[in-house]
Amino acid sequence: MSSLRIICILFGILSIVTFRAGPSLSRDSDSIPKYSVPPPPFSEGIFPCSECHADMETDPTRRELEEHTEIVEMFDHASDQRWCLDCHNPDDRDKLRLVSGKLISFEESYLLCGQCHGTIFRDWKAGVHGKRTGEWNGKKTYRLCVHCHNPHKPKFKPLTPLPPPVKPQDYQNLKLNNDEIPRNPIGKIQ
Ligand code: HEC
Ligand code: HEC
Ligand code: HEC
Ligand code: HEC
Repeated sequence: MSSLRIICILFGILSIVTFRAGPSLSRDSDSIPKYSVPPPPFSEGIFPCSECHADMETDPTRRELEEHTEIVEMFDHASDQRWCLDCHNPDDRDKLRLVSGKLISFEESYLLCGQCHGTIFRDWKAGVHGKRTGEWNGKKTYRLCVHCHNPHKPKFKPLTPLPPPVKPQDYQNLKLNNDEIPRNPIGKIQ
């Protein structure tokens, strides 16, 4: 084989590798798929935010608010370093805003959290952190971070430990009547 042919073949292989690598890299960079999630856990009547905010001036200064007072009071999420509009979008309040300026819907709030909690986000996608339900090899529903963590005060509150269950044999030995049998206390506990 002439050296010219070898060079041509090598060049061909090289260009295939380069052209294939190009697009797949750029696809990877924004390849976080959309996850199927239940509706975001808004308080009743608060969404769409634009119902009030559409005609309001945005005031980006840190201050006591006349509205959303309970959020300002509880705000404890690196709150010295930031304020509401680091997450909420000033111009269209029905959206959240990433650091890049990209707007996302409240169904995608995991992208917002994932900007700073990268390792947890990776675990969440893999189903190690948080909760997902559905088919093991098919469609899954992921709980949003905010289904378990309040975005304004996200530290998970300690859970009250429950008493151990009572075995049915023990009810019989104790000769308890129906009203005296201990019930599952979940629901009575705050
Ligand atoms: C770390 C990002 C972040 C910061 C900072 C933040 N928020 Fe939020 N906020 C969220 C996310 C995410 C939700 C959506 C929760 C959901 O999906 O139900 C939300 C929800 C809300 C809601 C709806 C609450 C409800 O009861 O349903 C209001 C109102 C709100 N934020 C106002 C504020 C105000 C005012 C501040 C500043 C004091 C603030 N937020 C700071 C991320 C943030
Ligand atoms: C019932 C009307 C109402 C609704 C609905 C409402 N807001 Fe507000 N919001 C206000 C008012 C009024 C203020 C200004 C309070 C002040 O200046 O003291 C405010 C202020 C804010 C601020 C502080 C920054 C600024 O622009 O002044 C944020 C952030 C905010 N709201 C987010 C939200 C989000 C997110 C939602 C929807 C999930 C929402 N609000 C829904 C009335 C509302
Ligand atoms: C801009 C970066 C940033 C974003 C965005 C962000 N966080 Fe945080 N988060 C922090 C920092 C910094 C701390 C530590 C704050 C502290 O110790 O006071 C923290 C603390 C937490 C904690 C408490 C960890 C502990 O100590 O137990 C949880 C849970 C949490 N964030 C969840 C979330 C969720 C859910 C979202 C999305 C709604 C989110 N974060 C978005 C920076 C961020
Ligand atoms: C099904 C509920 C659930 C969901 C969904 C969830 N978390 Fe958590 N998260 C927890 C619990 C429970 C803990 C552990 C609290 C503890 O050990 O004190 C925790 C702990 C954390 C901590 C502190 C971890 C540490 O190592 O200090 C961070 C940060 C956090 N979660 C962020 C997130 C983010 C970001 C998401 C979404 C991508 C998310 N969580 C989704 C329940 C959840």
